[in-house]
Amino acid sequence: MIQLAKPTADDADIQAVVEVLRAGQWASGPVVGAFEQEFAATVGVKHGVAVSNGTVAIHAALLAAGVGRGDLVLTTPFTFIATTNSIMHAGARPVFADVDEDTFVIDPESVRQLVRKMRVKAILIVHIFGQSCDMDAICDIANEAGIPVIEDCAQAHGAEWRGRSVGTFGFGATYSFYATKNLACGEGGMFTTNDDSAADYVRSLINHGRSGQYDHALVGYNYRMSSLHAALGRTQLQKLPAGNRRRREIANRYRQEIRPAFIQHPKSDERATHVYHQYTIRVASRDRLQAHLRRLEVASNVVYPRLSYQQPAYSDCDTDQLSCPKAEKIVSEVLSIPVHAALTDAEVARVIEACNSFSP
Ligand SMILES: Cc1ncc(COP(=O)(O)O)c(C=O)c1O
Repeated sequence: MIQLAKPTADDADIQAVVEVLRAGQWASGPVVGAFEQEFAATVGVKHGVAVSNGTVAIHAALLAAGVGRGDLVLTTPFTFIATTNSIMHAGARPVFADVDEDTFVIDPESVRQLVRKMRVKAILIVHIFGQSCDMDAICDIANEAGIPVIEDCAQAHGAEWRGRSVGTFGFGATYSFYATKNLACGEGGMFTTNDDSAADYVRSLINHGRSGQYDHALVGYNYRMSSLHAALGRTQLQKLPAGNRRRREIANRYRQEIRPAFIQHPKSDERATHVYHQYTIRVASRDRLQAHLRRLEVASNVVYPRLSYQQPAYSDCDTDQLSCPKAEKIVSEVLSIPVHAALTDAEVARVIEACNSFSP
């Protein structure tokens, strides 16, 4: 079966983890600090605070932005549930803006209308599948209204908007290093920011609110990253540019060589450098295409089958805006096909052939 995602470790990755095991400092320590600095430098921001996963990175970012009980946070419903869950964990409520049907990212016009209508405390955007949101429009709306923007970059390590790295536009940004992400270390995450006091606050928050060894200035959490994960994160970070290049190469082949007119390719905004965490096509006969691919040993996945507000977990939540017609249409048609750095040319050709041999 050609897999959808495949984390790979070479000798350098293995050696880095073994070194930490041998050194004996397995919990947080200098290796975590080094990963934070290297990651922040790659993004082009002042601070990186490593955490245990991308979900808690968003939670911490929201708290740092002053989001609290009863606040409204504007976001997209077309995302992994972690984005919305983090809003709930902060005691706030999500307000959902619709998305652009072709690029899948949040639609600035929908954001503008909601910001005018409601008292939104923060805007939490998602650079979904590796494509940047329209950061010109989002920043204009947010600056005009004086609302902080948090960028959920869980799927967009290395992505750019007009040549500038995502994660540098808002008040802060969050990353996930879950095993299938473009940059992976098993489980892990990062909060990044240029704001000194936000960085200090999050650094304390994720470490039980520590201000000294047994001094606790606030009621915090244990959201720390281990040195084992950071060691792997550091070596994987070095491979990120090549990995993203390979993903873009594969995406270009799919775009040119998967030909059926009933398959709609994901649109790449020409102002954005897409890093293809997912290559997500749209097709009306989605379930039959998926069965056809499975028969030909090509994995595929519906990412995502439901919008956040359509999840049972949110059925009794007091969500304010439950009509996102474009996003609702997308979830019935999307299908992600394999795209990752370890795919061979022969496997890419098999994926293309499998798609081309389907008749709806
Ligand atoms: C868009 C998005 N946000 C947040 C997360 C949460 O990250 P994690 O799984 O590391 O908690 C993920 C990843 O799974 C994601 O895809």
